[in-house]
Amino acid sequence: MKANDPIGVFDSGLGGLSVVATLRQMLPYENIVYFGDSARNPYGTKPKQQVRDYCFEIVEHLKQKSVKAIVIACNTATSVAANDLRKQYPELDIIGMEPALKPAATMKTPSTIAVWATDLTLKEEKFKHLMERYEQDHTIIRVACPKLVELVEQDALDQTELVDRVLQGYLDQCQGAEFIVLGCTHFLFYKERLLQLIDKNVQVIDGNAGTVNRVRFLLDQKNLLNQDEEGNLSIENSDSTKLELSEKLVKKMEGKHE
Ligand code: DGL
Repeated sequence: MKANDPIGVFDSGLGGLSVVATLRQMLPYENIVYFGDSARNPYGTKPKQQVRDYCFEIVEHLKQKSVKAIVIACNTATSVAANDLRKQYPELDIIGMEPALKPAATMKTPSTIAVWATDLTLKEEKFKHLMERYEQDHTIIRVACPKLVELVEQDALDQTELVDRVLQGYLDQCQGAEFIVLGCTHFLFYKERLLQLIDKNVQVIDGNAGTVNRVRFLLDQKNLLNQDEEGNLSIENSDSTKLELSEKLVKKMEGKHE
């Protein structure tokens, strides 16, 4: 493995591009190859085994690109496949994501924390274990938000009225929440709007920066951080009609509005 080999990043579709944007911001010299599986999106409402199989397929595909590490930029895929993938590919650093419940819980005890995620993430063992650690001292409200995944994939983020109505529907389930954890990478695209809709005392937390810190730490340990040139981003999608939208979403997250 070489420092200028790319980092492979994947998601069930376009959500992981929010992680790509954070990666590019925090580690600008890294080459990145992104695979979005929009043709088979969503993962969050599918059976566990099916999603697990998709993940193995995608990792095989990324391995062909000589990746030096893989970021599972999807909380759902991480819940069902990260451990098995690590067993299968011990030579590769595989960095997963989980809803940032821990950072929220450590900010204030006791507190009321709403976790927005996919249905599959919320019902998986991984999240149950996470809940067990914090539910004694905190009130945790679980909210499955499939519509937020759908609107991103359908390029509907500019439909403000629709977006607001959907967000409000989920907010109505979060009475008393002091924190909202965005436990799905698709949800990051709503963060700006969400902050405008909620009370200013409510904090919105996500795991993107924490994930990139972990990537940096693991690559640094192996002396694999790329230092010497501006990083490239190459985007692939199982639905080739999503490539233009992918570019648009990365720009949106990087604050470059068209
Ligand atoms: N972006 C994914 C996540 O972080 C899941 C979206 C989906 O396919 O349901 O969980």
